[in-house]
Amino acid sequence: MRLILLSVIVAYSVKYNLTKNFTRCDLVKELRYQGFPEEQLRTWVCLVEAESSRRSDVIGGPDDDGSYDFGLFQINDRYWCSTGVNPGKGCNVLCKDLLTDNITKASLCAMKIYKQQGFSAWLGWKNECYSQTLPNLRKCNV
Ligand SMILES: *[C@@H]1O[C@H](CO)[C@@H](O)[C@H](O)[C@H]1NC(C)=O
Ligand SMILES: *[C@@H]1O[C@H](CO)[C@@H](O)[C@H](O)[C@H]1NC(C)=O
Repeated sequence: MRLILLSVIVAYSVKYNLTKNFTRCDLVKELRYQGFPEEQLRTWVCLVEAESSRRSDVIGGPDDDGSYDFGLFQINDRYWCSTGVNPGKGCNVLCKDLLTDNITKASLCAMKIYKQQGFSAWLGWKNECYSQTLPNLRKCNV
């Protein structure tokens, strides 16, 4: 039942073309605009590439506990976003609102998770970014 609901959500957002595959430089521009600190940009880009390949429409899972992960930052519906009718959980947000090309809500939620748990909240960061060479963003600087 949940899977059907998720499929409907994705079909809807694809139909109305609200999702996006970001290029690396688009992502950098967007993260800057959302106020991510300059000295963390390479880490966030690495994290987003590890988690979602920069695609805002990705729903990952089910995880071992049956939860799902939403959007660019693969934010988890067990703790952080709600799949119900009303926004809820830690970020007081609907999971489907984390799947759009407007990444304001996803960014605020990711910053909140970071504040509470640091980058180690993300397995993709642990596996592909922690103590590894981070993406070079020089090409994206204006
Ligand atoms: C993003 O890329 C995936 C995989 O390459 C593709 O299936 C999907 O249609 C793309 N989505 C958009 C919105 O371009
Ligand atoms: C993106 O979403 C935020 C939060 O919902 C909203 O305030 C903002 O106006 C939106 N930006 C655009 C360009 O639609």
